[in-house]
Amino acid sequence: MPTLTGTSAPSLPPGFSYQSDRLTIEGIALDTLAAQYGTPLFVYSRAAMLDALAAYQRGLQGREHLICYAMKANSNLAILQTLVQAGCGLDIVSRGELERALAVGVEPTRIIFSGVGKTRAEMRHALEVGIGCFNVESTAELDVLDAVAQSMGLRAPVSVRVNPNVDAKTHPYISTGLKDNKFGIAHEDVLATYRHAASCAGLRVVGIDCHIGSQITDIDPYLDALDRMLDLVSAIEAAGVPLEHLDLGGGLGINYQGETPPAADELWQRLLEKLDARGYGQRRLVIEPGRSLVGNAGVCLTEVLYLKPGEHKNFLIVDAAMNDLPRPAMYQAFHQIVPLSPRQALPPTTWDVVGPVCESGDWLGRDRRLAVQAGDVLAVMSAGAYCMSMASNYNTRGRAAEVLVDGNHATLIRSRETAADQFRNEMLISAT
Ligand code: LLP
Repeated sequence: MPTLTGTSAPSLPPGFSYQSDRLTIEGIALDTLAAQYGTPLFVYSRAAMLDALAAYQRGLQGREHLICYAMKANSNLAILQTLVQAGCGLDIVSRGELERALAVGVEPTRIIFSGVGKTRAEMRHALEVGIGCFNVESTAELDVLDAVAQSMGLRAPVSVRVNPNVDAKTHPYISTGLKDNKFGIAHEDVLATYRHAASCAGLRVVGIDCHIGSQITDIDPYLDALDRMLDLVSAIEAAGVPLEHLDLGGGLGINYQGETPPAADELWQRLLEKLDARGYGQRRLVIEPGRSLVGNAGVCLTEVLYLKPGEHKNFLIVDAAMNDLPRPAMYQAFHQIVPLSPRQALPPTTWDVVGPVCESGDWLGRDRRLAVQAGDVLAVMSAGAYCMSMASNYNTRGRAAEVLVDGNHATLIRSRETAADQFRNEMLISAT
């Protein structure tokens, strides 16, 4: 490890290490990718994603299951392909995500459609291609889906998303299983909703679903949610509505700043123990992980443009910004920031790492001890999830390029967006 800071050096995610003072991912030094493709640049490790998936596969081994990668975390086609080829289905939340799923050739029955605001057109298209399940979030949505399916002479496969009212103990913006969140159907209304769904000619009840939040680092909220779900399953089945599958959503957290979430196989061992103890061990299981499959597999490389020391604050101005990495601005999220080539001879200074966007909220890291000079390249770690997929064109900044590394081979999987790409759908008005 390099001497990064005056404080103790944080550990790097699996797959990343310093080799002869150069930060590497699998077999490639990241500085070579920055030089070849420019910055800001997202780089992902295929092995890190597949290792993360393998932990879930180990945990669910021997049980009938489907791991539907929640592509909102990172929807690059090559990443979807990687995970689909390794056995994943996909969790989608929009027409656009459905098109991505179809573009990578996933079997449509391995697609589940989540989200509180599906439009009729989205429902129709998803029914036409034959997706595996709609996770329905309100009775109003259930009725519209029933009508759309009946108009097509079809029965839509449905699962009701339960709001179990458990506290996932995560950031309020990414906690979704509490009563006051907009998500899911309140626990106490679920049985009536299933009775209603079972009576609709355009619906076929196939499962039950919950998702309690994101970046969850504790097992307990999952165990609580599972208990509540199983109480409901027994009541719903006692009312004569059989459920083929149980969907426990996603949400497992990753290590950004020393968090210690359970490993996916450990989490599933505990959940399976409960399922077995309560007699549901053979039920088909569906899960929707996003962040935990890709988050720690990616980094964003960014060049230091200017050092701007000040009376109270020192600013390190880099070429990536809140449009590339929105999580710090949106959730005060922490991402580790490290140099690609540590400067051992330079004393570290405390910097706020900020981007070029015209907003004070445009920061990537605060009070970071770094020894750097203009022209150095930094890696913003754990940037595989909810970074590129949430990137915008604010300040008419083109979205970054993306590269996938496999061993010592790197492939460009998205080219850098140009200004022309950004104007494509705009029109000049004719001169009068
Ligand atoms: N299923 C549903 C219904 C979801 O809403 C989500 C995430 C997932 C699965 C995947 O959750 P994961 O395993 O990735 O935690 N932008 C925020 C995270 C928002 C999560 C939204 N829903 C962030 O950057 O932290």
